[in-house]
Amino acid sequence: MSFSYEELAEIRHYIHQHPELSGQEYQTTAFLKERLEELGIHILESGLKTGLIAEIGSDQPVVALRADIDALPILEQTNLPYKSQNPGVMHACGHDFHQTSLLGAAALLKEKEDQLEGTVRLIFQPAEEISEGASDVLATGLLEDVQGIIGFHNIPQLKAGQLALNAGAMMAGVEKFKVTVTGVSSHAARPDLGVDTVTAVTTMVQNLQLLISRTVSPFETAVLSITHLDVGSTWNVLPKSGYFEGTIRSFNPSVQRELKEHFVSIVRHIAKSLEVDVAFEWGVTPPVTFNDEELTKVVWEASQDLAEVLPANPSTAGEDFAFYQERIPGVFAFIGSNGEPDAPDLHHDHMTIDDAAFEVSVPYYVENSQALLRYFKAKEV
Ligand code: NI
Repeated sequence: MSFSYEELAEIRHYIHQHPELSGQEYQTTAFLKERLEELGIHILESGLKTGLIAEIGSDQPVVALRADIDALPILEQTNLPYKSQNPGVMHACGHDFHQTSLLGAAALLKEKEDQLEGTVRLIFQPAEEISEGASDVLATGLLEDVQGIIGFHNIPQLKAGQLALNAGAMMAGVEKFKVTVTGVSSHAARPDLGVDTVTAVTTMVQNLQLLISRTVSPFETAVLSITHLDVGSTWNVLPKSGYFEGTIRSFNPSVQRELKEHFVSIVRHIAKSLEVDVAFEWGVTPPVTFNDEELTKVVWEASQDLAEVLPANPSTAGEDFAFYQERIPGVFAFIGSNGEPDAPDLHHDHMTIDDAAFEVSVPYYVENSQALLRYFKAKEV
């Protein structure tokens, strides 16, 4: 039994109507479990609270297909007949499309189970949006024997029928920082009796703008954005403390490491000279989504018959698929989803997906998992 593209569209619309936030994908998981059981697909004992891992085939080699399943805290503003029935929660990143694509692929792979030259493990991953799900899946230990992993994200900027990828960086390594600065409060009329936090915070924010321009090679790409300051509460008191937060992103793991070190060093030097204390908080964020060179060649070749394959423009967004790629060689592609002009990007309250994109996403999983199995099988000999 497999699904027609119309049936997959209906399944996606159902999931779209019932979005759940990261780590709370209980109904979604139950729904997927039921569909997989109907298909006779073996679900592994993972111990995951939400999300699930299943498998088709047997023996070595083992490759994994990954789709994410969580939604975002966004109030949907589309007029779709299947818009979110869970106000304030929306599949605005298209993970409804990703998981339905993997379900469609699972049905087709199950039909071919006898012909598979190894095992295809299916990862329906929770909590991508908070960058925790991939680590939770890795912690189950169920990917220890996986030799290659494949994932994708829909991209509104590409047309349905198009697929983009390249070896190396696909999506940025992300750092999320919050720096708390503590001085000594005083009357605004007597700054000499305190230690001025406002000046310290603004000096740090100003000087950090030199981070990219003075420490990153002109042949590399990186971005620093300080997005939020909070210091002081009234006009005649110098506050005791304040903070600023933001993000640093780049496409090269070593650049990303150096940027973080320089960032800390700049802030510490200013803190020392202005006699304030500083504390750093770093969020849980993904490293660079970095495609394996050899496996990218295999996927590039095997995708020629199912899509118009283009070189990718890397994205400055982050993707927790990168955590798998730190441990397992992998390939992450962008699949065109025909964004509407009023919703030009992901995480938009008008975001829509063209269901025609299933005609690429489903075979992308099906054909490339088999291509990787054949690739690893040939290497065994
Ligand atoms: Ni996403």
